[in-house]
Amino acid sequence: MSTAFSIFVIAGTILSMVGFFLLLHLNRKITGSGETTGHDWDGIQEFDNPLPVWWYWWFVLTLVFGAVYLVYYPGLGNFMGLGNWTQFSQLEESQKIADEKYGPIYAQYRDKSLDELGADPNALNMGRRIFASNCTVCHGARGEGSYGFPNLTDNEWTWGREDADIETTILHGRSASMAPWEQVIGEEGVSQVTEYVLKIAGREVDEAMAGKGKNQFDMFCVACHGPEGKGQKLFGAPDLTNEIWLYGNSRARIADVIGKGRNGIMPAFGERLGEDKVHILAGYIKSLSSE
Ligand code: HEC
Ligand code: HEC
Repeated sequence: MSTAFSIFVIAGTILSMVGFFLLLHLNRKITGSGETTGHDWDGIQEFDNPLPVWWYWWFVLTLVFGAVYLVYYPGLGNFMGLGNWTQFSQLEESQKIADEKYGPIYAQYRDKSLDELGADPNALNMGRRIFASNCTVCHGARGEGSYGFPNLTDNEWTWGREDADIETTILHGRSASMAPWEQVIGEEGVSQVTEYVLKIAGREVDEAMAGKGKNQFDMFCVACHGPEGKGQKLFGAPDLTNEIWLYGNSRARIADVIGKGRNGIMPAFGERLGEDKVHILAGYIKSLSSE
């Protein structure tokens, strides 16, 4: 907030609080006239009586509360309040308390393998909760994934299926990079290599086109997807020989990925969750695909 705007907010707030008080106080009557105001509706008459005493003091009390609040907490423009309170200090404080309370509970699973965690109902429950609050936005409520976000319940692990691979993925994140090929091999080349990709995935295809596509594949694609198209976890290059597709299974969708490229990003969670929670989470994730 700029200083001028801050002063505007501070002056506006204080003046209106003082204004409310004066408005109420100067109009306050101790005794009423005992007469009606002349308003009468359906037998109900309005008398010219003073406000109840409790109402008046209650209002004054809310003004005092407001003033004390604004002195202690941030609220008046750029003035941070005498209590030094921020959302961050509050979050840090409650995270510290939570870590002290729950840290040892998570830590006791540190030395178990992911398969052992997958057989432990308590660990699975914890993993499920951590998953629900951190991962479902992208991977779906049950880890089923959606367009661009991998299904975690199937048996394809683009970034590796070893315990260490899964934990590394969650701790440090992953960044996939599939270059756009249209400029390199042209639209026709894209159609041909798409045909070949569909062939190795097991579809019925135009063999002549797929044959030409194989040449393109051997030249441009094997470096990452491997000579048989089985993928490589080092690059996060998916296995192309099955019917598991991250970006859709139609010929048009697959040609679009090859022509335009894709850059899937899995964010890192190490800092937010810490190693122990990630370990428990990884056990839960691994259990999803063997269910
Ligand atoms: C530099 C390494 C690299 C090269 C070379 C490469 N790819 Fe990829 N490819 C990837 C990566 C990484 C992904 C995953 C992208 C993502 O997850 O966002 C991918 C994804 C794909 C997909 C989508 C798979 C799915 O599940 O939806 C197809 C199809 C594909 N590549 C085909 C090809 C073809 C055909 C070529 C050669 C013309 C090629 N790739 C060359 C790394 C590469
Ligand atoms: C902002 C969206 C987003 C969130 C949130 C997210 N992920 Fe991911 N995740 C992705 C994307 C995108 C990929 C695929 C990256 C690529 O293209 O290769 C991925 C990949 C993965 C993989 C690798 C799958 C494989 O085949 O190797 C695992 C495991 C995973 N995520 C687990 C998690 C867990 C556990 C959480 C919660 C802590 C999480 N993700 C939260 C977007 C997300």
